[in-house]
Amino acid sequence: MLTSRVSRLSISQTLAIVEKVRTLRKQGVTVYDLSVGEPDHPSPKEVKEAGHQAIDSDFTKYTAAAGILELRQAICDKLKRDNDLEYTPKQVVVGNGAKHILASALLALVEPGDEVIIPEPCWLSYPELVWLAGGEVVFAPTKVEDGFHLKAEVLERLITPRTKVVMLNSPCNPTGAVLSGSEMEAIASVLRRHKAYVISDEIYEYLRFDGREHVSPAHFPGMMERTVVVNGVSKSFAMTGWRIGYGAAPLEIADAIARIQSQMTSSPCSVSQKAALAGIQSGTAYPEMMNVDFVRRRDICHAALKDVPGVQLPRPEGAFYAFPQIQSILTGTIKGKPLKEATAFAEYVLDEYHVAIVPGTAFRAPDCIRLSFASADDIVKEACGRVAAAVADIKH
Ligand SMILES: Cc1ncc(COP(=O)(O)O)c(C=O)c1O
Repeated sequence: MLTSRVSRLSISQTLAIVEKVRTLRKQGVTVYDLSVGEPDHPSPKEVKEAGHQAIDSDFTKYTAAAGILELRQAICDKLKRDNDLEYTPKQVVVGNGAKHILASALLALVEPGDEVIIPEPCWLSYPELVWLAGGEVVFAPTKVEDGFHLKAEVLERLITPRTKVVMLNSPCNPTGAVLSGSEMEAIASVLRRHKAYVISDEIYEYLRFDGREHVSPAHFPGMMERTVVVNGVSKSFAMTGWRIGYGAAPLEIADAIARIQSQMTSSPCSVSQKAALAGIQSGTAYPEMMNVDFVRRRDICHAALKDVPGVQLPRPEGAFYAFPQIQSILTGTIKGKPLKEATAFAEYVLDEYHVAIVPGTAFRAPDCIRLSFASADDIVKEACGRVAAAVADIKH
């Protein structure tokens, strides 16, 4: 008999799409894949070299559970340089990806029955990780007409003495929303007043468009002591497969995360830590180069879809996702069958137009779809054109 903890867990909804894309490609079909959650760029040269060097010099043993000191120091230097946040290496834990740090931070902070507020739509792992830690999720709605920005008033309305943690994610997967400094300040003041912790997932920090700023909630007075800053190299240095993320937190929380990690995984991969160190030490030139590509592709995607009747698409502000709402399209039928829900639309687009997208259902937004523009310009252009054609074929 399985535990109640695990019975609530679902399998990633994107797996079915990946499987279908694979099958279609095996049949010789050209599939335009906008479902991916990773940059199409290779890892930087210095990262690859550092990985080779680590193997060649036999840097292949267990490391300190919280990660090698050099890397934790480099992360502190980065947090000072980019975020004006002062941490010591003891307050930094390196884990097997940001996801792993998010899971450990929730295990460290959430007691069974504690409430965790998650802005909705949200990245699919947040609720699952809260449930795994025994917490209850309270979803804070955001609206397409607000560009999916979390409003401080909404947070104020939902926060209770049972709220232990609020999850923030700016720039956001799936909506591409980037909170401004003043929005973050208003949110921080609610959190401070109610003495809630915040887990701030800043994994898309460098991927922001049109000069938008990135402000960590930890930056506001009285907030560093209640914030776990989570970040990593997956998206910023195109290193998804190396599995390195990190958290910076008050000493007590960082220590708890390190203890959890020491019992569960011993340490993150030694070779990957050296590679991540090289990436972080190389500065921001690489993510800035990728950002130029993402801005151009964001524009291609937005131009192709913004005027399509029934598609409401806020201009993506960061990350590499467009998240149109297609509510009125879903009332239509295709081949006599009502669509109703984004999953049916995504299936139709993949079957008939050979474009893979992720239904918003995966992110608790069943009237939206997510299109990743982390692919070559011509793929993004062709795929978005096909989505527009698919919409035009729906009968009302
Ligand atoms: C919002 C968000 N947080 C965290 C992660 C996980 O990052 P990592 O590869 O470092 O585990 C992702 C990956 O898709 C993400 O989109």
